[in-house]
Amino acid sequence: MIKLSPSVLAADFACLKDEIEKIGGADYVHIDVMDGHFVPNITFGPDIVKCIKKHTNLVLDVHLMIENPEKYVDVFLKSGADIITVHYECNMDFEYIKNAVKSAGKKLGISIKPKTDAEVLEKFLPDIDMALVMSVEPGFGGQKFMPESIDKIKKIRLMDKNIDIEVDGGIGEDNIKSVVDAGANVIVAGSSVFKADDVRKAVESLKKF
Ligand code: DX5
Ligand code: ZN
Repeated sequence: MIKLSPSVLAADFACLKDEIEKIGGADYVHIDVMDGHFVPNITFGPDIVKCIKKHTNLVLDVHLMIENPEKYVDVFLKSGADIITVHYECNMDFEYIKNAVKSAGKKLGISIKPKTDAEVLEKFLPDIDMALVMSVEPGFGGQKFMPESIDKIKKIRLMDKNIDIEVDGGIGEDNIKSVVDAGANVIVAGSSVFKADDVRKAVESLKKF
């Protein structure tokens, strides 16, 4: 069974509560936190996570595209994050982050950008719950899926049969099967869910794919 994680980056922020209700048939809510340093865009902070938490029982899947995530991990956990994913490429105190997430009883992920090799994840696998493969350059929604990410997903699945593998960027009805066949089991979808004419139907058909 796959987990569908609609990315609220593509939602209408002025009606976030309604948008969150529409994705009730999904599994996770993907929240893209960007700091304007690690990526050239700025999005949400922990207060938005807290607001979203109030209006949903879905798992909050927080993707931190920020430098020095150890400075913010505690506040995101306190705000209701259930999964915290940090980037391999950022400056960070991984031990601190690992201990913070584990002692809160939450899940930890590491993400790799399109140009980063899958092999870098190997040494982290015993410590993490999820590997996030970026299938676009992080920073913006609505970009085109990079097919090279398929091989990367396959490589990680060979390294670890059980770990969650999330794929993020440019996923929709036309390519969801290819990433799931490669071994991904957590699927992020921003534009293909929130920009659809019928958001509820989009969730339903991506879940069935
Ligand atoms: C990009 C973000 C993605 C993005 C996906 O930096 O990490 O989560 O919201 O959006 P779509 O599905 O539109 O590519
Ligand atoms: Zn993301």
